[in-house]
Amino acid sequence: MESDVTSSVVPSLMAQHIDIFVCPSCGGALHVSSDRRRIECSKCNLSFRSEKGIPLLFWPNESDSKVDVTEIVKSFYEENPFPGYEDVDSKWSLRDKAEKGIFARLLDDQIPYGWKILEVGCGTGQLSNFLGMTWGRTVFATDICLNSLKLGQEFKETHQIDNVVFLQMNLFRPAFKTDSFDLVICNGVLHHTSAPFLGFQSISKLIKKGGFVIVGLYNTYGRIPTDIRRFIFKLSGNRFKSLDPRLRAKNLSDIRKHIWFMDQYKNPHESKHTIGEALSWFDQSGVEFINSIPKSTAFEPFCPEEKLFKANPRGTRLDHFFVQLGMLLSGGREGGFFIMIGRKKT
Ligand SMILES: C[S@@+](CC[C@H](N)C(=O)[O-])C[C@H]1O[C@@H](n2cnc3c(N)ncnc32)[C@H](O)[C@@H]1O
Repeated sequence: MESDVTSSVVPSLMAQHIDIFVCPSCGGALHVSSDRRRIECSKCNLSFRSEKGIPLLFWPNESDSKVDVTEIVKSFYEENPFPGYEDVDSKWSLRDKAEKGIFARLLDDQIPYGWKILEVGCGTGQLSNFLGMTWGRTVFATDICLNSLKLGQEFKETHQIDNVVFLQMNLFRPAFKTDSFDLVICNGVLHHTSAPFLGFQSISKLIKKGGFVIVGLYNTYGRIPTDIRRFIFKLSGNRFKSLDPRLRAKNLSDIRKHIWFMDQYKNPHESKHTIGEALSWFDQSGVEFINSIPKSTAFEPFCPEEKLFKANPRGTRLDHFFVQLGMLLSGGREGGFFIMIGRKKT
């Protein structure tokens, strides 16, 4: 573990890539101070420090929006970091767990050598740490929640995962230049913000032309079973928890179950979205549809050897109806979550 003195130093991987950073307040260029303890803006002279090896580049929203849930959501995740590391204690167990989920395995297999990756809303950073275990890529893992980032950083340091930098950042006030990343991943995050489409526009600017974006959202129809369970839990004083497949799973520890319960049923803010809506976000942001989980064309299974970055038909409205009906009828597995993959037009 690093000493307190060392951990206030700007991570060397960030210093190496300082050219892609900007001040989250004014957009000016950032540089690292000569003692390597501060990140400074050349334009507005703001200065940012690091804590436990995590650069603190969070900047609040300054919009006129009546409702801004950023602080409420931040406080919730500071108390309930998600998803945590209770069930992984080594690089191998993290790899093992990640590869059980087909998406993470395919992603890791198919990311080309040399890609610069940004994860927005990484939580405790399991995916970023997993992707960062492969040599030849650079991963920036960002979130507003410092307690989550600290868990990711601790795992990274303990297991010497050198290709990842954890940093605190608000996706509405990014600390990166436009066109900086080959891949931006934002899984399960935008639906916890006040303005998901604005959030999508903010992060899609960070992708290089020809680069990819992966966005995971709650589905309007797939989420109905979760909504019903939430209602029952509320009425019954949190009884009948076994209605949720994860909460009755025998192989999940009590702490994992608690984290899942809080994230799914006690979250202070969530919105739901359709495949069609996500496609319209893509269209309005210069992003072309590439692939999705589940597939956006009806009755076409997502195969275990799927090429994530190869273009597929986007499907018709009728396709989307059947796909989303399927999510509902399957009981809203994974909390009715769907993933859309797009490529920024050149
Ligand atoms: C459900 S967790 C998802 C974590 C991780 N992506 C995963 O799939 O396990 C949602 C995360 O979004 C983060 N988040 C919410 N609003 C954010 C914002 N404005 N900027 C950055 N992160 C945000 C929260 O702090 C939280 O860690």
